[in-house]
Amino acid sequence: MEQYVIKGGAPLVGEVEIGGAKNAALAILAAATMTDDTVLIENVPDVRDTNVMIQAMESIGVRVERPDRHTVKVCAKVVRVHSIEDDYIKKIRGSYYLIGALLGKYNEAEVSLPGGCNIGSRPIDLHLKGFRALGADVRISHGLIIAKADKLTGGHIYLDKVSVGATINVMMAAVLAEGTTIIENAAKEPHVVDVANFLNRMGASVKGAGTDVIRIKGVQRLHGTDYAIIPDQIEAGTFMFAAAVTKGDVTVKNVIPKHLESISSKLVEIGCQVEESDEAVRVVATKRLGHTHVNTLPYPGFPTDMQPQITVALGLSNGTSIVTESIFENRFRYVDELVRMGANIKVEGSVAIIDGVEKYTGAGITAPDLRAGAALVLAGLAAEGFTTVDDIKYIERGYEDFDEKLRGIGAMIEKVNTEKEMQKFKFKVG
Ligand code: UD1
Repeated sequence: MEQYVIKGGAPLVGEVEIGGAKNAALAILAAATMTDDTVLIENVPDVRDTNVMIQAMESIGVRVERPDRHTVKVCAKVVRVHSIEDDYIKKIRGSYYLIGALLGKYNEAEVSLPGGCNIGSRPIDLHLKGFRALGADVRISHGLIIAKADKLTGGHIYLDKVSVGATINVMMAAVLAEGTTIIENAAKEPHVVDVANFLNRMGASVKGAGTDVIRIKGVQRLHGTDYAIIPDQIEAGTFMFAAAVTKGDVTVKNVIPKHLESISSKLVEIGCQVEESDEAVRVVATKRLGHTHVNTLPYPGFPTDMQPQITVALGLSNGTSIVTESIFENRFRYVDELVRMGANIKVEGSVAIIDGVEKYTGAGITAPDLRAGAALVLAGLAAEGFTTVDDIKYIERGYEDFDEKLRGIGAMIEKVNTEKEMQKFKFKVG
């Protein structure tokens, strides 16, 4: 079984290049099936989730080519079936975007109920409410979401909770509907805007993405285009926190600093220096981190996908911090692992109370989900001695070449498969 083995303690120093946003890519790949023309998408991260999405698209007849590692050419002229039911698609959350895309284009879709990281109950009622408001008949049967309509017509949808997935999904279904759709209390995340920009480049009329009211005027058809996906806010934030926890000096390149503001300001609050330039952010940490309080919120608030990483940092801070998880109810499962590394954290419901310790000590730990897995790697990089991280398949769902990028800035980390490889690494790093 593949594991990461890490020798902690070295400050990370150097430059790291950030890839395309995984969560934007999942939606944009699905949206690319909404035209019969060819679409060229650049800056697609080569991670498990996007590869699973591509496989699912191919399984219904979509032609996908990959001229290079990060460029994907999609042609959905011939789609054999509008039903996607297989084991792999259940494993990713973003599979639900195929419902909006297929329903929008063909007025029918059948897709397995989505899976994804186990971080809470993750209902999809708001997606279904949105499709129904557009005139679709939607039901769940034998593990499938089945959505059908004679024709979709514009509707007025108020999302009871700010949901990235529901906002994007309803937006996609509405672009080819007859008339105007209004989505109120829409999510404002950068990838919502990215998907709207992509749809507009295909000929859609989506206005207001990035605010809490999105207006979509239905068009008759979408056409081919080429498009480059925005940089990944969470990958960037993870490397920024890698600098902070190792007392390093890291420049994350190919980012949009504006998307990182909530992350940058927390880093400044806990005593790091953050320098922004056009497409890069440099994080320098020279002293012990300070404590603070954090509440995860929809964009532009502090992202829930950065909650484990900031908790790892605050676990090493000078004082007591409180982290409140407001988006998902089961997102502190990694704390037990962190406690095994010496952290002093108590979780009560959706709140973690953190008493900072001077150092973590290396241990054998397991990644419980994608972002928590990455955060535990950061803990290992900061810890004294060796850490092994199991179940790295979760991390590989969303981070491309994570170990390689970390090695590029001085981390002692290796992906190993056998005890022998592990011993070799330990011998090499001493
Ligand atoms: C997406 C991201 C995930 C990120 C999350 C919040 C993808 C593939 N995943 O997940 O990485 O952590 O946004 O930024 O893009 N909710 C409902 N009913 C619904 C939909 C959501 O009650 O129909 C609730 C959820 O339980 C959660 C909140 O709304 O409490 C926000 O969820 P949402 O923004 O939809 O998250 P995802 O799209 O699943």
